[in-house]
Amino acid sequence: MPIQQLCTVAAATKLNDYAWHLVLEAGRMASMIRPGQFLHIKCGHSRMLRRPISICEWMGDEPEDLVSVVFEVRGDGTAWLSRRKPGDRLDVLGPLGNGFDVQRKGKYLLVGGGIGVPPMLGCVTPGSIAILGCRSADREMPALTEKFREECKEVILCSDDGTVGYHGFVDAQVRAVLEKEKGFTALLACGPKPMLRAVWRAAAEFGVPVRVSMEERMACGVGACLGCATPMADGTMKHVCKDGPVFNAEEVDWNA
Ligand SMILES: Cc1cc2nc3c(=O)[nH]c(=O)nc-3n(C[C@H](O)[C@H](O)[C@H](O)COP(=O)(O)OP(=O)(O)OC[C@H]3O[C@@H](n4cnc5c(N)ncnc54)[C@H](O)[C@@H]3O)c2cc1C
Ligand code: FES
Repeated sequence: MPIQQLCTVAAATKLNDYAWHLVLEAGRMASMIRPGQFLHIKCGHSRMLRRPISICEWMGDEPEDLVSVVFEVRGDGTAWLSRRKPGDRLDVLGPLGNGFDVQRKGKYLLVGGGIGVPPMLGCVTPGSIAILGCRSADREMPALTEKFREECKEVILCSDDGTVGYHGFVDAQVRAVLEKEKGFTALLACGPKPMLRAVWRAAAEFGVPVRVSMEERMACGVGACLGCATPMADGTMKHVCKDGPVFNAEEVDWNA
């Protein structure tokens, strides 16, 4: 069951010109988290809806009951969040969503694009390979890249304009990895929908199961309002907040 509580900001840092990293004292919440889940954070004015932000890292061992999130400013809510300082308190509901099923001994191909990179950090296992994509060098989050390097078997960086890492999209790197390396338990991915679709198509050529974390605008965050309904390949609709945000790629209607 998710819980709602006031969390004190323990640290607030900028990762690059666009992305902020907040560490929250999350209490009991920190011991309930699965990779790929998210927090629903009230951003400012009491009438403003909460904003969903994925969990990046967490430490569930008291007294280090810390949870971190990484976000980019898109509108009023995230702009307000970017002005929070250590000591400020945030009204947080979580952890929400189903999350990724990650086995410690599993060998995963982790694929993150843009602001979809931070949630993949929680999925890392020692046998994993991570492919991290960004638009350009100024969008890379070097502190996060370093953490992936410390914990993964291999990290491959790429950018749309070639200013950092390989020049090109992550799906090209997915094909390159799957051509040389076998035995992946699954490919887990988070990022914009066109990226997820391309990654799924690439992995399907090699028969690797794919789980994707989807984004949809949200209101309640707990399956009560239909605000986040997303179409599935079988013609049904599912709630990204409650049935997801993680889905088997073949379940998703990629043409919607
Ligand atoms: C499950 C989930 C996890 C997320 N995790 C992260 C994260 O870890 N880091 C992060 O930076 N962002 C994340 N997002 C996106 C984040 O929730 C939105 O950027 C945020 O709600 C925008 O709020 P705002 O008030 O700043 O902007 P608004 O004024 O509400 O919107 C600004 C612009 O962003 C678009 N937008 C708003 N919400 C979404 C959304 N959910 N998906 C796509 N576009 C949107 C709007 O259409 C508009 O163009 C996540 C979204 C979901 C659903
Ligand atoms: S946001 Fe209300 S049902 Fe998902």
